[in-house]
Amino acid sequence: MIKVAFMSTPGVMTPLEEPLRRELPGVSFATWPEPAAREADIAVCWKPAAGALAEMPKLKLIHSIAAGVDNILVDPALPDLPVCRIVDPGLSAAMTEFVLWSTLYFHRDFDRVIPNARDGVWRRYQQCAPGDRRVGILGLGALGTAAATWLVDLGFAVSAWSRSPKSVAGVTMFSGDDALDAFLAQTDILVSLLPLTPSTMGLLNAERLARLPKGAALILCSRGEHLIADDLVALLRSGHLRGAVLDVFEREPLAADHPLWREPGVLVTPHMAAIASWQVIAQQIADNVRRMQRGEPLLNAVDRGRGY
Ligand code: NDP
Ligand code: OXD
Repeated sequence: MIKVAFMSTPGVMTPLEEPLRRELPGVSFATWPEPAAREADIAVCWKPAAGALAEMPKLKLIHSIAAGVDNILVDPALPDLPVCRIVDPGLSAAMTEFVLWSTLYFHRDFDRVIPNARDGVWRRYQQCAPGDRRVGILGLGALGTAAATWLVDLGFAVSAWSRSPKSVAGVTMFSGDDALDAFLAQTDILVSLLPLTPSTMGLLNAERLARLPKGAALILCSRGEHLIADDLVALLRSGHLRGAVLDVFEREPLAADHPLWREPGVLVTPHMAAIASWQVIAQQIADNVRRMQRGEPLLNAVDRGRGY
């Protein structure tokens, strides 16, 4: 019988119990730090307590309920076991919706007309054809590729930056650290879909954001730690940057009195860009459990050396 430990704040994973029971009949659950969790074969994680996974001697598989695994790999005592994540067309579709909406928010001046409407200001702005709007995507993985493809279909001038070169129809590619400045210099709307790793932490700082053309906007869907928020605010206030949609933050939930909520030009959303369904999460965990039992390769295992 498979024993699953939920490694998160108690209650967070309760909705996973029923779909996992359907997928893995006879499965038992415990939530860390209950004693039974220490006996688990499978750890299902979202922000597990540091050191906890090392206290589970029977553990065979560490499974994220999310696409990002930064919250798991950050544990210095992480046991040397496979770590798998969620990759799902539904998640990619949801992220695409969020990126398209945020891109159109700037492209069609909703960032200006919504505040104007509150003040009773009737003002129209010069329209820009999508082909004249340069959207740059940081990270061309499962999520970045889906969003890029739709942006291309809508006629935007799309480019992307990734570690290794990629080929996606209609997307101008930049790859490697040496290409980052050139990529930023030709981006009007910057979308971050990078994983959080030691190489990408703090990437969006004053120096890099200043390389964006004057009037550029940021859509941050990746992790709060990618952005130095004070640097963004300084560039917004100086008028170099136009605005930002921020979905992720270093500390979540963002405190109700955090100044970013009220910073002109910033729209805060509550880490909602793309949320995998519990059904899909249960299916992917169960699929990997069955693969593990049959000795087959696991799906969506991350490269721990690379950090994603
Ligand atoms: P993937 O692992 O599929 O893709 C990551 C991409 O980033 C790859 O193209 C990779 O390059 C690139 N990359 C990684 N490190 C570097 C680097 N140092 N320099 C340049 N490029 C780099 O990830 P996903 O697309 O599945 O997810 C991306 C992130 O989105 C997640 O890690 C998570 O943080 C965030 N996310 C946010 C959500 C939200 O609701 N806000 C929901 C889901 C995910 P290469 O292709 O060469 O390997
Ligand atoms: C994820 C997230 O990584 O929701 O899936 O942020």
